[in-house]
Amino acid sequence: MCGIVGYVGNKASGDSKSIEVLLGGLKRLEYRGYDSAGIAVIDESGHIGTRKRAGKLQVLLDNLADQPLANGMTGIGHTRWATHGGPTDSNAHPHLSADGKLALIHNGIIENFAELRAELEATGATLISETDTEVAALLVGREYDRVTDLTVALRNVVARLEGAFTLLVMHENEPGVVVGARRNSPLVIGLGDGENFLGSDVAAFVEFTRRAVAIGQDQMVTIRPDSVEITDFDGNPVEADEFDIAWDASASEKGGWSSFMAKEISEEPEAVANTILGRVHDGLVSLKELEPIGDEALAGIDRIVIVACGTAAYAGMLGKYAIEEWSRIPVDVELSHEFRYRNPIITDRTLVISISQSGETMDTLMAVQHATKAGARVLSICNTQGATIPRESQAVVYTHAGPEVAVASTKAFLAQVTALYLVGLHLGKVRGTQTDEQIRENVIELQAVPEKIAEVLSVSQAEIGQLARWMTDTQSVLFLGRNVGYPVALEGALKLKELAYIHAEGFAAGELKHGPIALIEPGQVVIVVVPSPRDPHSLHPKVVSNIQEIRARGARVIAIAEKGDAAVLPFADEVIPIPLAGSLFEPFLAVVPMHIFGMELAAAKGLDVDQPRNLAKSVTVE
Ligand code: F6R
Repeated sequence: MCGIVGYVGNKASGDSKSIEVLLGGLKRLEYRGYDSAGIAVIDESGHIGTRKRAGKLQVLLDNLADQPLANGMTGIGHTRWATHGGPTDSNAHPHLSADGKLALIHNGIIENFAELRAELEATGATLISETDTEVAALLVGREYDRVTDLTVALRNVVARLEGAFTLLVMHENEPGVVVGARRNSPLVIGLGDGENFLGSDVAAFVEFTRRAVAIGQDQMVTIRPDSVEITDFDGNPVEADEFDIAWDASASEKGGWSSFMAKEISEEPEAVANTILGRVHDGLVSLKELEPIGDEALAGIDRIVIVACGTAAYAGMLGKYAIEEWSRIPVDVELSHEFRYRNPIITDRTLVISISQSGETMDTLMAVQHATKAGARVLSICNTQGATIPRESQAVVYTHAGPEVAVASTKAFLAQVTALYLVGLHLGKVRGTQTDEQIRENVIELQAVPEKIAEVLSVSQAEIGQLARWMTDTQSVLFLGRNVGYPVALEGALKLKELAYIHAEGFAAGELKHGPIALIEPGQVVIVVVPSPRDPHSLHPKVVSNIQEIRARGARVIAIAEKGDAAVLPFADEVIPIPLAGSLFEPFLAVVPMHIFGMELAAAKGLDVDQPRNLAKSVTVE
């Protein structure tokens, strides 16, 4: 939520190139928010120039192409997801101090901004935006005039701020310096040669360096072309660990695909395969990453609580089925924001598993902190190296889906389910609830998933595209599933809502007769996840009956069913076939048509598949 980039270089690192670095970074960070974009640069003559525009980054790019801004060696850039104040030019970042010599950008929410604003106004300040950020810019500007040191000025102001924030500042009197501070909001350093970078995540600078350092909570950093100093909010030096960025710049580029989402759906087989890679030995799962918790403690766990939001929570629901089946530990799945603001029963025998693609979702971070304080053991499943949530967890199992740029999650969902299944199999072994032979069978099933997803993609993509093109006027779609098909139905509905702006609801198919069936009228489209006829719970006939009930009331049924399932054919208007798989593994296959369907329907309606309205990829506010 909001993307931030900062840059300092010297002549040795090339000609003045701040603007190129900032715009390149913003392009890669735009998925974090696209209500407005702006940059500020200290030019060769030592003056700050700013340019900011409401709308997507392209509006700013067009403006800069028409009226170029003088380049320099120091700059900051911002792409915004609006919180305080609408998406206008004046609310866009950067914001300036009263004398225009200091520029500041911000990600997060300053919760006590109203009283700080009142204090500024009472002492003669005039604010030109409605943002909390401008308040910070004016305060740091005043403080700088008093202490004449940018790092000290920011530190003194940060001490007065409440809420969550990453702030970057630069001042005309200190060219070649950018100072950052963070609390509960992300900031990563990129280490270059004669140049250094700051970014909300490594995508901001991966084009220029693969060396990165994550900054901890309540820490500050001052970058110059040849130095990086990290301190805590009291000014004490902090040692930080460097890490290598595991993917290169091309991984976060569209590479000939019509959208990032199309590319990312095509990478779903790889996302699963790469998440399994290196974690299976002799046919059994061994997760070294769980060592900080330890097998002895894991054997003693009496309850698991999975916390996550949105799509990640649906992955969690699937994890519940698998983990309970294999480890016989009761699992609850809770939305992070609901978990955080009640008084959950947690002991040192509770394992909290957080799931987050970005590793920055504020709701989930708050849940992790809450669980840690209450004495739980906390394991995180995350797709982003160096992000805050894994840093604050006792153990972390990284998903290896690669960078996910499209705002709506697709391949990361499959990687999250894979990681949860690996955890379930590890727990099954540690607790002795699965024999080695059973684990091996499940591992073989899991390892077969990537190839089967590839088959779904090659067989169904064109057909689903056609179906979607026929449905551009559809007002409402219902999704049904039972057992592991239920989270898949929820995920299908969420994708359709957020991508195609079509009203969609997911239901447990058994719940239909308890109310939702009243929604069925002639022509209502219902997408049904049909379990295999070989399903051990014998749910297949029940779902086929559900289909008949809605068909009888005029619904148009699209069934996602195992290929060769003859029983469903007479009752469905369309059947999308998926390969045979064990019942716990069907969701990996059934969800792929859902992802394609949401994307194709949005594209057929002419919508921006990668950047749906009102959303941002990394939700760093509560
Ligand atoms: C939906 C989607 C969101 C995210 C949710 C959690 O397509 O992408 O629902 O799953 O905001 O995000 P992370 O996984 O980054 O915590």
